[in-house]
Amino acid sequence: MTDVRTDLSAHLSATGVEGDLAELLLKIAASCVDIRKVVSGGALAGALGASGNVNVQDEEQKKLDVISNDILTDNLLALPLVAGVASEEMDNCQPAKHDGGKFLVLFDPLDGSSNIDINAPVGTIFSVLAAPSGEITDAAFLQDGRKQLAAGYVLYGGQTMLVLTTGSGVAGFTLSLDGQWLLTHADIKISPDTKEFAINMSNQRHWAEGVQTYVAGCLQGAEGGRGKNFNMRWVAAMVADVHRIMMRGGVFLYPWDKREPNKPGKLRLMYEGNPMSFLVEQAGGKSTTDGRNAILDVTPTQLHQRVPVILGSANEIEEIAACCGV
Ligand code: F6P
Ligand code: MN
Repeated sequence: MTDVRTDLSAHLSATGVEGDLAELLLKIAASCVDIRKVVSGGALAGALGASGNVNVQDEEQKKLDVISNDILTDNLLALPLVAGVASEEMDNCQPAKHDGGKFLVLFDPLDGSSNIDINAPVGTIFSVLAAPSGEITDAAFLQDGRKQLAAGYVLYGGQTMLVLTTGSGVAGFTLSLDGQWLLTHADIKISPDTKEFAINMSNQRHWAEGVQTYVAGCLQGAEGGRGKNFNMRWVAAMVADVHRIMMRGGVFLYPWDKREPNKPGKLRLMYEGNPMSFLVEQAGGKSTTDGRNAILDVTPTQLHQRVPVILGSANEIEEIAACCGV
């Protein structure tokens, strides 16, 4: 039986995204289908384990980090529309060999890679910018998050889903068994209230006072000032934690902490903070550095810069802001 659902291509044209941007987004989505095949193959596809290298951030690269990075880089640089790519897994940007590309694409090719070997969810995150004229260097990518033309993620979970914004809301697509991206979540909205929070509790002793106060309030539950019980979840893959928030609300925190006071946070502005913030804001949530200031307003100064991340259900982010005194 033919599925009558709208596919990604039809959805893009129905929402006024046509021509070059549509072609680019379809290529990104197709590349993620290729990544999905390797993720699904696991040990059979040679996808498990370490690659033996470390990336520019001194993190051990997994084989799947490298494979996913190669798939996206090769597929995108082969498109005449693409002027250059930058990735969490590459020291510097890679300009295209051809001239005339009008888009830059940034990506975290395999988010949550500590989950690969345990067969838990991982994802891909991407961000699309307009290419400036002239030579493509790292500086060309240092554009404010509000300049993103599109952003999205693919979650390789029980279902493979693409969640996408081009600046007019957020839509979710599920990969069918015959390889089509079908619209299953037409207008994703993050509920403003929640009883669920996500944070790596093992870092508790390092957090700033405001985050300590907020989480203590959640843990006190109905007996404390919040007057309700909270649940806690931590998938250790930002894509999966953000997807949960897209589906049923919640907050996600990877805040600044005092382990390395000069390091703003763990997550990366250009590959994680900005694209996720574009999606979260478009879904009616908030995405901030501290409960108040929008990540999309952070001025990028370095390709691999880090950022504290506090995002999710709008009213709960206000609670966090109040605890943090901002
Ligand atoms: O990409 C970094 C990342 O893997 C995120 O996907 C995830 O939210 C976080 O790091 C997990 O961090 P931790 O290892 O502290 O649980
Ligand atoms: Mn990541």
